[in-house]
Amino acid sequence: MTKKAAFWIFLLGTLSSAALFLGLTWDMHRQVDALSHADRLSDTVVAGKKAFEKHNCNDCHTILGFGGYYAPDLTRVMQRIGEVGVRYRIRHPELAFAASMRKMPRQDISDADTENILSFFNWVGGIDNGDWPPQDSRKRLTRGEKRMVAMAGVTPGAAVFQEKGCMNCHSLHGTGGTFGPVLDTIGRKLTLEQIEHYVKDPKSVNPNAMMPPQTALSDRELEEVASFLAGLK
Ligand code: HEC
Ligand code: HEC
Repeated sequence: MTKKAAFWIFLLGTLSSAALFLGLTWDMHRQVDALSHADRLSDTVVAGKKAFEKHNCNDCHTILGFGGYYAPDLTRVMQRIGEVGVRYRIRHPELAFAASMRKMPRQDISDADTENILSFFNWVGGIDNGDWPPQDSRKRLTRGEKRMVAMAGVTPGAAVFQEKGCMNCHSLHGTGGTFGPVLDTIGRKLTLEQIEHYVKDPKSVNPNAMMPPQTALSDRELEEVASFLAGLK
């Protein structure tokens, strides 16, 4: 190659990459308001962001990948464990994580700050960010699900049950949470369709239901988990 050819490759390569970079940056900024649903940025969401900062939550947690890598990412935490689950963990981490070696401090956060943080999480969870983070993806089997499915005897439905936070509240064979009923023989009581219906919208079946609607489940996941539970007789 001549020196001159190398020069032109360098120059055109640099200029076209720079143009592409600037174009994509401009395109991204153009879409930010729509993708992040800026119209849903209420006063409580903003107050929640401030409370999140005031209590140094992001020293340990990430949101959209930013923050500390000690504790779970909170981008989709509302979809993962529901409003009741999140509130319980913020108010009583010493109970919620009693059995875990990782610790979250109890900061005695006020009711107002807690509710604001919840509405901040709700807003963050609604950002259209291309199905990120992967562990909360609605489309694919997660890494954890794949691992469990690969291990003998675990069906995709059982993996969904463990991965999507059902076990934060429900137990199977003595393992799991105690906030919701034991589901060891739920297949005797409810059919596949009834389970699907309940999981999607508990209040439509039981107006006093305390279980949050499991909106983070894709149709595939809902069907898999319901067919798994319906088989527990
Ligand atoms: C000193 C570090 C630390 C701080 C500060 C902290 N957390 Fe945590 N948090 C943790 C750890 C560790 C876990 C996971 C515990 C486990 O599962 O073993 C956790 C878990 C959670 C969970 C449950 C996540 C899930 O997917 O199950 C929520 C919600 C949460 N924290 C919210 C908050 C909020 C809100 C704040 C600020 C008010 C906060 N955390 C401050 C360490 C921290
Ligand atoms: C935040 C806690 C919580 C989470 C998370 C949760 N549940 Fe529940 N669930 C409950 C509670 C509490 C009940 C008891 C009825 C009520 O108050 O809604 C219940 C009831 C049920 C029932 C009906 C049981 C019966 O005897 O009629 C089914 C089925 C069920 N849950 C499945 C699931 C599945 C599947 C998931 C995960 C995708 C899940 N739940 C996640 C708290 C939870």
